[in-house]
This record gives sequence, C-alpha cells and structure tokens, in this order.
Amino acid sequence: MDDFVKVATVGEIPRRSAKIVQVGLREIAIFRDGEEILAIDNVCPHAGGALGAGSCKRGIVYCPIHLWGFDLRTGACDTVADLKADVFETRVEGSDVHVRLTPKANSE
Ligand code: FES
Repeated sequence: MDDFVKVATVGEIPRRSAKIVQVGLREIAIFRDGEEILAIDNVCPHAGGALGAGSCKRGIVYCPIHLWGFDLRTGACDTVADLKADVFETRVEGSDVHVRLTPKANSE
C-alpha cells in the first residue's frame, strides 16, 4: 500500500539539524545525511527525548537527553540492543519530500 504523504520540500530540511513535521498524531524528525533524506520518530524510545533536537553525524542521531545514538536507517540504538526508534521510508519527487506513514519495521 502506498501511504506516502508530502511533509516538506527539500529546501526546508536544514543541513545541520532536523525539520520536525506533524503527521496525524505523530511527530517525525526529517534529517539530511549528505544528500539522503531520512526520517525517524521524533520521540526517543528510551525516555521521550526529542530526537529532532539531537545532533546527526554519519547517519546517527544523538538524543539530546542521554546522548544515545539511533541509526536513521534502521532505528537501532547504539547503547541498548533491544531498543529501536521507528524509522520511515522517504521519497523525493521533484523538490517535494514524502514520508511513508507506516514505520519500516511494520510495513513488510
Ligand atoms: S531519552 Fe533519549 S537516550 Fe534517553
């Protein structure tokens, strides 16, 4: 099922921080990693920190609360093996950024 929605334009995604978008009841943080655009749940699965306020280096966002890292492509946590943030497929069409509403792990 194609459940992508437009959330931003490419120009609205900062180079060194995230753009937070509200999709339904959910906040999603949109980051750039080089030229790739990646999307992760804005709410840290550890204790609710705002991942979109974290710093991003080489595809890892560091939560601003305890500085644990989360892989923007898989959601995997670098500190606790079982902990995962929801991550979302993105698609760029022209200058529009679309995010798939169903998290990656739940979409297959
Ligand atoms: S709240 Fe995010 S690592 Fe603790």
